[in-house]
Order: sequence, then C-alpha cells, then structure tokens
Amino acid sequence: MVKISATLLAWYDRHARDLPWRVPPHASRAGRRADPYRVWLSEIMLQQTTVAAVKDYYHVFTSRWPDVAALAMASDDAVMAAWAGLGYYARARNLLKCARLVVADFDGVFPADRVALQGLPGIGPYTSAAISAIAFGRSEVVVDGNVERVMARLFAVKTPLPKAKPELVALADQQTPKARAGDYAQAVMDLGATICTPKKPACGLCPLREDCQAWAAGIAAQLPGRSPKPKKPTRFGIAYITRRPDGAFLLERRPAKGLLGGMMGWPGSDWGAHPEPAPPIEAEWQMPTGEVRHTFTHFHLILTIKVALVPLETVPARGQFVPSQHFHPGDLPTVMRKAYDLATRHLEKV
Ligand code: ADE
Repeated sequence: MVKISATLLAWYDRHARDLPWRVPPHASRAGRRADPYRVWLSEIMLQQTTVAAVKDYYHVFTSRWPDVAALAMASDDAVMAAWAGLGYYARARNLLKCARLVVADFDGVFPADRVALQGLPGIGPYTSAAISAIAFGRSEVVVDGNVERVMARLFAVKTPLPKAKPELVALADQQTPKARAGDYAQAVMDLGATICTPKKPACGLCPLREDCQAWAAGIAAQLPGRSPKPKKPTRFGIAYITRRPDGAFLLERRPAKGLLGGMMGWPGSDWGAHPEPAPPIEAEWQMPTGEVRHTFTHFHLILTIKVALVPLETVPARGQFVPSQHFHPGDLPTVMRKAYDLATRHLEKV
C-alpha cells in the first residue's frame, strides 16, 4: 500500500496554513509543542465551524482567558455571551465544565492520553485524538471530514458515507506515522481545506496526485459519496420582543438543557407547537412585516415576531427586563439576534 505521510509532511513544511493556535512546522520539527489549552479550545471551536468563523472568537477567548485556570474561573454568563454567534451552544457549556474539571481533578494540566481526554466533557474520539497528537506528539489516528475525503479519494473508496466510515478510519490508521503525528494530522486537514476540497478539488496542485486512485480514474470530485440525508422538517414559533421607554428589553434565560440551552432569548412559544402562547405581558402587540428564518442541525425554524412598547412599571409574567446598559445584542444567539434586528427595523419606522 502507498504511504503518503512523508510526501504530505514535506508539502506541509512548505505550505502549512498560518493559524493562531498552531506551532508552525519548522518550530514543531525543532521540538516545540503547542499549548494543550489552545489546541483544545481551537478544536472545540472548530467542531462544525470553519477556520474563518473561529479566528475572532479564538482571539477574544485567549485574550480574556489565557489559560485553563482563568477560563475555569469565568462566569457561565461571560462565557456564553462570548460564545454567542458561534452556534452549537452545548459546546460552550461543555467547554466551561471541562475547564473546571481539568482544574479540579487534573491540577489544571490537560492529560496527554487519548482515553483520559475522552473522559472529559465535550471531547469525543476526533477531538481527543487531535489534542493528543497535536499538543503531545502522540501517534493517534485523527479522523475528521477532511481525512475521510482524502482517504476516500486516495483509495477510490466508492462506498458512500456514513457506511464507509470504518473503512476510511482503517485506511487513516495505516497512514498515520509514528513521528510528527500532530503535524501529519494538520497536514491532511490543510490539504482537505485548500486542495482536496469537497467540490472542484485542485488536483493539479496536489502533492499526492500520483498516488491518488480517484485522480487516476477521473472521479476525485465525485468522492466520497454520501447517502441522502433525511429532509429537515420546518418548525414554527413566536417570539415576543418587549421594550420599555428606558430602553430595557424583556429577555428570558432558556432552560440549561436543550437547544440554545442556558442562552438568553425572547420569551415565546415552543418551536413546532402551533397554538399561540400567552404573551409575557398584556400589551398592544404589533407584527412587523416579515419573519425570521434560521436553520438548526435538525430543522428549519420560522419565527413570527411580535413587538410591543410597554410602560416603565409593567411587571412581566415571565422573563426579566434587562436595562439598556447591560443589553448587548451581540451576546444573543444568532436566531435571537435576527429577531432583534427585525424588531428594531420595525420600531424605527413607528
Ligand atoms: N480543523 C480542525 N482542526 C484543525 C487544525 N488543527 N488545523 C487545521 N484545520 C483544522
């Protein structure tokens, strides 16, 4: 079987992307290791999110909380607010749980072992292998979507995902080198992100082209196949946006468990349930034209927005008024932010 690690590492030495959490290849070859805290933080942020979307959040987090002890001492609210907009909020809750556990049970030092890492909140098979390889230099098999795609093309695996997964993991295992496993893992990811891309791969630039069975057969762009995903259902809901004359907005913390758990949001209905929920306040509710659309992992959401201006002394049936100096729309999850934008456009007109 062809072995790609030497070719790929030589390519990585010349073409590695410059990423803020990364020890560049020349320094890595000289024995410098990445900070496990930074590797962990970046890998959690990069789950289901692109490098471009993560960079600014990564800078904010590492400036405010430069190490795991600092993050462990942060308040839940501060971390959830700093995460707002990045999505998949369970990641932020687990991030904080994990930081506190590393401080409480591991003296603030991340374990190097993949199995120990996988016992921590929010760290699954991919992330544990990535941290163990990148931060500790262990020869672990790191398999993300990029690695699956590169293996599927290199060996022309025609079985569609997700069925092909075990076969692709076995191939990735056979390719993982003993030395420089962290650089190797990042090299495959960089290749997958810049050359061996999902659509229109740049095979002309690929260092592995001569070894690539899919390229030889002219089918690189078709691989890997994917069994059709079930269509996402659409759910509906209502959000009530209430403003007082002093600029305070009525917000409510969402239950800790479930979608957008622990984040602030507008009082409203369950999503999917059609009956109209009781508003949180007696008021003259206005409906701005338009609606908010947002797509989550498992469904599309269409939110109807209702807006009211209420007197200062109003007492809400649920939620709490957040004074304007403490209200930062940027701290809201994206769907709630979209609702706010629609409501403020409406309020500017009335
Ligand atoms: N995607 C997820 N983790 C990555 C890393 N360490 N380097 C490049 N791309 C990545």
